[in-house]
Amino acid sequence: MSTGKEGSRIDWVKAGCHLLTGIEAEFARTKPFRDMTIGTGIHLEPKTAILLRTLHAGGARIVATGNLNSTQPDTVDYLHQHGIEVIAEQTMDQSVHDLSLNRVIAEKPDLILDNGGDLFAIYAEAPYPELLGGTEETTSGRMRLAPMREQLQRPILVINDSPIKQFAENRHAVGQSMFESYMRLTNRSTNGKRVTVFGYGACGRGVAANFRNASANVSVVDADPVTTLEAHFDGFLTPPRDHAIRTADVIVTETGAVNVITADDLGAMKDGAVLMNGGHFPTEIAVSDLLHSPQVVARDRFEEQDIETLHLKGGRTVHILAGGHMANLAGPRPLGNSIESMDLGFALQARCLEHIASGKASKDDCVVPVPPAIDAEIAEAYLDRHR
Ligand SMILES: NC(=O)c1ccc[n+]([C@@H]2O[C@H](COP(=O)([O-])OP(=O)(O)OC[C@H]3O[C@@H](n4cnc5c(N)ncnc54)[C@H](O)[C@@H]3O)[C@@H](O)[C@H]2O)c1
Repeated sequence: MSTGKEGSRIDWVKAGCHLLTGIEAEFARTKPFRDMTIGTGIHLEPKTAILLRTLHAGGARIVATGNLNSTQPDTVDYLHQHGIEVIAEQTMDQSVHDLSLNRVIAEKPDLILDNGGDLFAIYAEAPYPELLGGTEETTSGRMRLAPMREQLQRPILVINDSPIKQFAENRHAVGQSMFESYMRLTNRSTNGKRVTVFGYGACGRGVAANFRNASANVSVVDADPVTTLEAHFDGFLTPPRDHAIRTADVIVTETGAVNVITADDLGAMKDGAVLMNGGHFPTEIAVSDLLHSPQVVARDRFEEQDIETLHLKGGRTVHILAGGHMANLAGPRPLGNSIESMDLGFALQARCLEHIASGKASKDDCVVPVPPAIDAEIAEAYLDRHR
């Protein structure tokens, strides 16, 4: 029997991205981005590599950078081999990352594909007339860009606010991948453990559900009382914040807010508590303050697992996963969200950028959801393939 060729992880991902590969073949014929430059600031990992190749097939020159801490060197090599310019370093240093972002904007891209609002925020400081508009991938980016509409004045479609992205990625896939990442980084069980999830939005719901399905006792803390009531009706414990911290074996943040867990909480934490973040920015857990708290007497670093253990006065320990960065794109062999969920989200990306390149969106469509017709088209294409 023939064993065929040896495929890489990116080949495996591509084989599962049925929507994107279909769009890539179409774009190779229709060239919707002919003579355009697309500047991108999104995780450089295998699934985005397939998205960037799809846009490249559509005639665009791509100038790509990543997000903080998630750049995968194999993906960067792969993109270089396929004619995509990459300006990115694997770094946790915001100032190093900022240099890459500035270099992408210096190319004056015609379209921007952003994740977290990093590129649009730089554009807003020094707008240039050639920008047609672009897309924003995530919740935190929408929160950052919405107050900047006056400066942006361009069509910007928020992929995050598509119902498809909400349920397929944020709820189902982030829930699965955060659970997978807890297991992958710690190799510890969830059975009978007490898990507290901060934030019961789209992502937090999936995280809470996945830990509950893995036989953990899950509590939810949300800043909004109505959302907290919904968590209660969904059968989760909703204790006051202090109690939820005091009793937790695992604390997960999924809020999009800053300083959700701070050094002030150390005194209440249970011995052996594990802290992990799934929110976009590494500021939900105030890691630097925790590391430098006077309560910390020693630290151990488990480099391979990307875990830092804090030894506290009195003998308790607290473990921080991935330095508070998004755990599902950190640590050993980071996989991120499922291929199917990202194929859906990135098909939305490709169609939204095509929509803007074709001049069908106006500057009034600034930081607005994906047009419903695009949602319907992507949903039908996925169902045709999978049901
Ligand atoms: N890790 C990933 O792969 C991934 C994927 C998608 C989105 N994200 C990120 O995850 C984060 C959450 O996204 P979402 O779509 O669930 O957002 P969301 O807006 O749907 O939900 C956030 C929830 O957090 C609550 N909240 C805000 N501040 C809080 C606080 N201090 N304490 C407790 N609750 C608080 C809000 O009331 C809300 O219910 C964002 O940063 C987003 O960008 C990560």
